[in-house]
Amino acid sequence: MKIAVVGTGYVGLVTGTCFAETGNQVTCVDIDKSKVDKLSNGQITIYEPGLEKIFLRNLKEDRLHFTTNLAEGVKDATIVFLALPTPPGEDGSADLKYILGVADDLGKILTDYKVIVDKSTVPVGTADKVQAAIAKNYKGEFAVVSNPEFLREGVAVDDFMKPDRVVVGTSDERAKKIMTDLYAPFVRSGNPVIFMDEKSAELTKYAANSFLAVKISFMNEIARLCERLGADVDMVRKGIGSDERIGKRFLFPGIGYGGSCFPKDVQALVKSSSEVNYDFEILNAVMKVNEEQKLFLMPKINAYFNNDLKGKRFALWGLAFKPNTDDIREAPALYMIDALTEAGATVHAYDPEAMPNVKQVVGNKIDFAEGQYDALENADALIIATEWSEFRTPEFEKISSMLKNKVIFDGRNVYDRAQMKELGFFYESVGREAVK
Ligand SMILES: NC(=O)c1ccc[n+]([C@@H]2O[C@H](COP(=O)([O-])OP(=O)(O)OC[C@H]3O[C@@H](n4cnc5c(N)ncnc54)[C@H](O)[C@@H]3O)[C@@H](O)[C@H]2O)c1
Repeated sequence: MKIAVVGTGYVGLVTGTCFAETGNQVTCVDIDKSKVDKLSNGQITIYEPGLEKIFLRNLKEDRLHFTTNLAEGVKDATIVFLALPTPPGEDGSADLKYILGVADDLGKILTDYKVIVDKSTVPVGTADKVQAAIAKNYKGEFAVVSNPEFLREGVAVDDFMKPDRVVVGTSDERAKKIMTDLYAPFVRSGNPVIFMDEKSAELTKYAANSFLAVKISFMNEIARLCERLGADVDMVRKGIGSDERIGKRFLFPGIGYGGSCFPKDVQALVKSSSEVNYDFEILNAVMKVNEEQKLFLMPKINAYFNNDLKGKRFALWGLAFKPNTDDIREAPALYMIDALTEAGATVHAYDPEAMPNVKQVVGNKIDFAEGQYDALENADALIIATEWSEFRTPEFEKISSMLKNKVIFDGRNVYDRAQMKELGFFYESVGREAVK
């Protein structure tokens, strides 16, 4: 099949590469010329485990192409995926200017039947808007399909190649057949392609992300309660996670969710709800809890240093919003950096992949370390904001000898409290009694 993917970011590049991997001819279109140049020259633009290898293979096999020219990119394609940004507008609703802008352009370009697929996360009713935007200038046949993406950064290739399910919203029988054929190689082990109407597909994506955000914020509130009541959130997590109805995943407390999806999608669903006079009370609470949670460690840090962080130096391990990605959008670490520097402290940060992206945002506000241990030099304490696996079993002796004080504030509960006690650390985490 011939496929075009418009937007070559985290979703578009993975989508394009994975479709090429199953033998399709894929052209990825992006307005960012430097990105297109790099990708055309075999230079990957995001860090995503396993992606580079298949990207290079498909580039070499001539199944994957990149262009800035939309007309050229979609000319021969049967299916055109829109993997464009849908950032929050000023009022919190998803900004559709990228999607509708490209839909408008497509109307001027189309000459034959194509399936236009919304892969971006878009509010209910967007498929109709895309349909109308194209139909303004193109009077021929075409279909607009909602096919939300559920991949997770960090395991995006696996998620795309072996999805739990594929959701396809369409009322067009021809499009249904095309989408069935396209996804057949990805659902060979019986994972379902679930067909539904466009609106239900659009809402499914928001419902999924919002539900997961509820789970995270719920556990963060349980963690707060654990600290007040003297319970251990790790035990409570294990206790409830063994219940099949609850499940083990997404029960880890921490310093809040970030990333390009949960914060904006929860906000957008609240906004969509208010537009139809519905006050989504649970999600309002989720947003509030998460805002507070990003700075959960600050009172603990302030208490340890007697509310005087001026001149203190902090080693900060982890900047990405989660491990195995270089994505820093809405990363809790950025909020920590602001809070610490505003209080007069300095920050020496290390992240295996995200430092170049953070440098672009914060400039010289903080120092960047060459390696995880370099960050510790002359630091008054170590803060952990992202649970990269290399932080899980570090050389504690080295940490002890390099830090000025044996003090760790762990926003992701990566260490065992008993071990911390044995090693003589002052250790604060989330929802567990401090080790003093
Ligand atoms: N990142 C994720 O984990 C994830 C997962 C599921 C769904 N989504 C959704 O997928 C969508 C895309 O997210 P992303 O993280 O890939 O975004 P991104 O910002 O990484 O990528 C978007 C790309 O679109 C390009 N672009 C912008 N305007 C364009 C235009 N007019 N023509 C061509 N290209 C254009 C940008 O240059 C950029 O490369 C969003 O709606 C997001 O909510 C993201």
